[in-house]
Amino acid sequence: MRSGDGFKLTAAALEEAVSSDTKWLLLNSPSNPTGAVYSPVELAELAEVLRRHPSVLVLSDDIYEKLVYGAVEFATMASVAPDLADRTLTVNGVSKTYAMTGWRVGYGAGPADLIAAMNTIQSQTTSHTSSISQHAAVAALSGEQGFLEEIIATYDYRRHLVVGALNESKFLNVILPDGAFYLYVDCSELIGSSTPQGQPIASDVDLASYLLEHASVAVVPGTGFLASAFFRISYAAATDDLERGCAQIVDSLNQLT
Ligand SMILES: Cc1ncc(COP(=O)(O)O)c(C=O)c1O
Repeated sequence: MRSGDGFKLTAAALEEAVSSDTKWLLLNSPSNPTGAVYSPVELAELAEVLRRHPSVLVLSDDIYEKLVYGAVEFATMASVAPDLADRTLTVNGVSKTYAMTGWRVGYGAGPADLIAAMNTIQSQTTSHTSSISQHAAVAALSGEQGFLEEIIATYDYRRHLVVGALNESKFLNVILPDGAFYLYVDCSELIGSSTPQGQPIASDVDLASYLLEHASVAVVPGTGFLASAFFRISYAAATDDLERGCAQIVDSLNQLT
């Protein structure tokens, strides 16, 4: 994952990475943690590589499907490359679009043999998600979707707000992402600095701890996503909290030396 590629896997990088050991390509667009969104053309380029590697399966995690902004349109491998349907598993859920995280409902579509195997595992482990949750999910998915427009507009407003507020810091250069509700912030300039108490900031983990203590803001260090030095910030929070949190981040970063 490289910021220079918009945090997206390119066809060339995929070709280079695939080997005879490769079983799955996991795609997540819009992405957690970067907010990156693959265009139909970019997915078609990846599909072209996959056609040369028939043993590789594709898992497309589309959970942020509805959370795309401006003119950006959501696309998924199953629609861009229907010829790969027999090795594409598409998964989704109600946690993000409908803010139904606690209901614990996800769903998938893919080749029958794969779904049967998933059923076998699930029936022997968690058995199934509760029937009440399943009915609630059906209501969410088949109900009136008009409210989504307002939700997306609100996230879009917060996306601009947080990017603008964090870019007030001379240490940060935050890129406006196309989807989901995260920013993946490059903090490499701050690695090697010290806190007012003289503690070294040797990694994004140190920086996240510092922000937790000094700015009272929880960010997720990029190390957890195997991509440093970054931190992830979620703007799925109240506008007032975001304004206050960003101001506290900028103020705390100014105190690093
Ligand atoms: C990329 C991605 N997939 C799936 C999920 C699933 O969420 P849940 O287990 O709440 O349905 C999440 C939640 O953070 C996510 O970020």
